[in-house]
Amino acid sequence: MDTKILRKISYGVYIVSSRKGECINAQTANAVMQVTSDPPQFALGINKENLTHEFIKESGLFAVSVLSQEAPLNLIGRFGFKSGREVDKFDGLAYRLGKNGCPILLEHTVGYLECKVVKDLDAGTHTIFIGEVVDGQVFKEGEPMSYAYYHLVKRGTTPKTAPTYVETKKEEKQ
Ligand SMILES: Cc1cc2nc3c(=O)[nH]c(=O)nc-3n(C[C@H](O)[C@H](O)[C@H](O)COP(=O)(O)O)c2cc1C
Repeated sequence: MDTKILRKISYGVYIVSSRKGECINAQTANAVMQVTSDPPQFALGINKENLTHEFIKESGLFAVSVLSQEAPLNLIGRFGFKSGREVDKFDGLAYRLGKNGCPILLEHTVGYLECKVVKDLDAGTHTIFIGEVVDGQVFKEGEPMSYAYYHLVKRGTTPKTAPTYVETKKEEKQ
């Protein structure tokens, strides 16, 4: 297979959050897509090793904060290269709890969606969570971050836990 084709599929870059009782956590995710319009439902591909996976599985709830194009790399890295098992990712950041109790990031975001899980599918390394949208809002107009922008302009990278991770030879690395 020509693995370069995998880089031709478009995504956004999001902060997917959940909770377990009073504990909150979130991770960076690009595998987020709307799958139906009536009712509006979203699918997420979440690695089974992630703390966020444990929280979504347990609570059946998640929120998706939509990152803006100007979101700094270190914010995406904080949520995407570290686990909530080691750090409190929301420490010092502006956020609020949504109606479903999941945290919504209020900085470098253009809006959010809140969802209730209606189905989950075992996809091997990842679980596909399908959630019905229960609330959502646009905070401000602005360009949402695309996955292509993250790679090409921000020169960001993706860890192995992401479903779209592609192993590249040294000379091909971005
Ligand atoms: C740009 C980017 C995109 C990512 N996309 C996903 C994704 O769609 N699904 C996933 O499970 N992990 C994805 N990850 C990896 C998780 O964010 C990462 O494993 C994180 O450390 C999990 O944190 P947690 O253990 O606190 O849940 C992505 C990371 C980055 C930087």
